[in-house]
Amino acid sequence: MKTSPLGPARPRLMAGNWKMNHLAADIPSYLDEMEAASQGAGVEAWLAVPYTLLTSAAAHCHPRGLSILGQNVHARESGAYTGEISIPMLRETGARGAIVGHSERRQYYGESSEAVAAKAAALQRARMFAVVCIGETQDERDQDHTKEVLTQQLQPVFAALPSIDHVVLAYEPVWAIGTGRTATTSQAQEVHHFIRGLVRDRYGSPPADALRILYGGSVKGDNVEDLVACPDIDGGLVGGASLRGREFGELLRLIG
Ligand code: PGA
Repeated sequence: MKTSPLGPARPRLMAGNWKMNHLAADIPSYLDEMEAASQGAGVEAWLAVPYTLLTSAAAHCHPRGLSILGQNVHARESGAYTGEISIPMLRETGARGAIVGHSERRQYYGESSEAVAAKAAALQRARMFAVVCIGETQDERDQDHTKEVLTQQLQPVFAALPSIDHVVLAYEPVWAIGTGRTATTSQAQEVHHFIRGLVRDRYGSPPADALRILYGGSVKGDNVEDLVACPDIDGGLVGGASLRGREFGELLRLIG
């Protein structure tokens, strides 16, 4: 297992996000291709799939040591919330947690940081994992507001969560998602270091040092190694390059 040379040993994690792609029939061949390409890399891998695929993906993935996540979840256990999925429902599929606060959910469905925090807290109470996404837009970066925006996005999360257990943070600059533009390694490392500092201020050093912070935004084969070589970058949250098993497996091989 490779860990950052300068930082404490945090196991690397590669999380794929299929977004609204794929059907159940795609799963077996995807996993075969992924396994062949990863060449036995021992990297922890999670896959966030559409709700309709959760049960079948979990059944196929668990024997192969791959964990399944939802791409969203509702904070309440049950009730009149048409179209929503609760944490007990998610758990019943075999999923181990969910992505919360992806920028596409914030942007297209108006999810506030408070709503994201409530979801993360509910997942934590259920001892399921929350991959909490934060990130600035191009305008915010251009105006030099990146750190302020990230602080504002994290503040409700810090208020709602008594500890940072069962949390993975994902820094995903909105301008880098699906655009082919990746943050440079120094831009990403600077932000990851800043985020870890905020976590340290809130929860103290051991939890901050143990927290995995993923980078997301056009991660692919030709940048993944440089990104995860940075001391505060512990893996990736990958959209486009997770859609083909071969490409996702290749990412696992490169950082394994
Ligand atoms: P991308 O998506 O890898 O296609 O940029 C990342 C994400 O949205 O999580």
